Amino acid sequence: MRVLVIGGGGREHALVHAFCASPQARQVFCAPGNAGIAQEADTVDIAADDLPGLLAFARREKIDLTVVGPEVPLVAGVADLFAENGLPVFGPRGDGARLEGSKVFAKEIMDEAHAPTGHYRRHTELAAALRDVDTQETWPVVVKADGLAAGKGVIICQDAGEARAAVRLCLAERAFGEAGGTVLIEEFLSGTEVSLLALCDGTRVVPMAPAQDYKRIFAGDQGPNTGGMGSYCPVPGFSDGLAETVVEDLFQPVLDALRRRGIEYRGVLYGGLIVTEHGIKLLEFNCRFGDPEIQAILPRLDSDLFEACLATANGELDTVALRWRPDPCVTIVAASAGYPASSSKGDVISGLSEAAALPDVTIYHAATAVHGHDIVTSGGRVLAVSALGNDFAAARERAYGALARLSFAGLQARADIADRAVQAQNGEIGLFPADWAS
Ligand code: GLY
Repeated sequence: MRVLVIGGGGREHALVHAFCASPQARQVFCAPGNAGIAQEADTVDIAADDLPGLLAFARREKIDLTVVGPEVPLVAGVADLFAENGLPVFGPRGDGARLEGSKVFAKEIMDEAHAPTGHYRRHTELAAALRDVDTQETWPVVVKADGLAAGKGVIICQDAGEARAAVRLCLAERAFGEAGGTVLIEEFLSGTEVSLLALCDGTRVVPMAPAQDYKRIFAGDQGPNTGGMGSYCPVPGFSDGLAETVVEDLFQPVLDALRRRGIEYRGVLYGGLIVTEHGIKLLEFNCRFGDPEIQAILPRLDSDLFEACLATANGELDTVALRWRPDPCVTIVAASAGYPASSSKGDVISGLSEAAALPDVTIYHAATAVHGHDIVTSGGRVLAVSALGNDFAAARERAYGALARLSFAGLQARADIADRAVQAQNGEIGLFPADWAS
């Protein structure tokens, strides 16, 4: 079969890499891809948000399955366009992608599904939002722009001054454009975050292994938020049984609520969970694979991802059971100078072949390009270094060993990725609030 992956980051490299290992995927294309993806698949110079260009390519090349990586084309309706033209696609249509594209919509669906989440109020008028801030008695609160804001639309506010500034940023200054035309003022939930991704075929839900990511740029969770500086999979203390419970209590009711609205959700449902002392709640939904979570999840997958994605797109998830290797996986992101405020482009990357040749190591490219005979940086998050090991300590050591072979000017990486997983596996710490399950 002929597969097209839309996107060009580390997530898409992980998908391409997995599809290339499938005997069913005879030819793998990626639009636009990157330098690493080009070593494994046929890259096509079409932007991920060029919907007509993608459609024309898929029709011309008789693509059997298109797998959409990023949220932007999904929210823009790429799955609708492909389906209307008889092209099978993995990824929800625009109506289902609103779970990520509109935080208000996601909250409405969570409420309909009785899925636990933080309390919230929504506002479109600045004066009403400011009055609401003045009635707030407990801090912090979270102010969220309703729409897609490139990861910048969630602002944790420690006091009324910060909250007023945040609602002004959205509703008056329109810092996030239309995405900030509606804001949510939401209860701040404290606890431990877990990313649980699940395949959904409209009616059924098959969870993947749980993962955790690192959002801040500096070790010790310091500094500004990023797209993700590392991850690991699985999560010590988050059992398969717990994942099944989350599916039963949260994901399946959400999928059913969508169906009652006439929305058939096919693709991946990414639940941003938080384990609080009062139980598991939903922070958010995303309509695509997590990045860099999927770079830590897929090396552990012992089943054919392409087969699973095809079954998802065809509404046949009853034919799929995902199997997992016992070995944990650790993923470290190497980012370029200036990230996340800016990024450096054109810096020559060395050590790629040596690092990739190490046992149980995979180097996923995220923002790389070819320049002459060199592979160079082309954005913020440049590479994701994933390694498997018998335990978290071994996986982490391998991942950092591979990272040490890589260099480019200004390389930034956190030095503490998976430390807590090692400690939790050794029984030195617990990752979750005490007594949370009781
Ligand atoms: N790792 C967070 C995300 O993919 O949104």
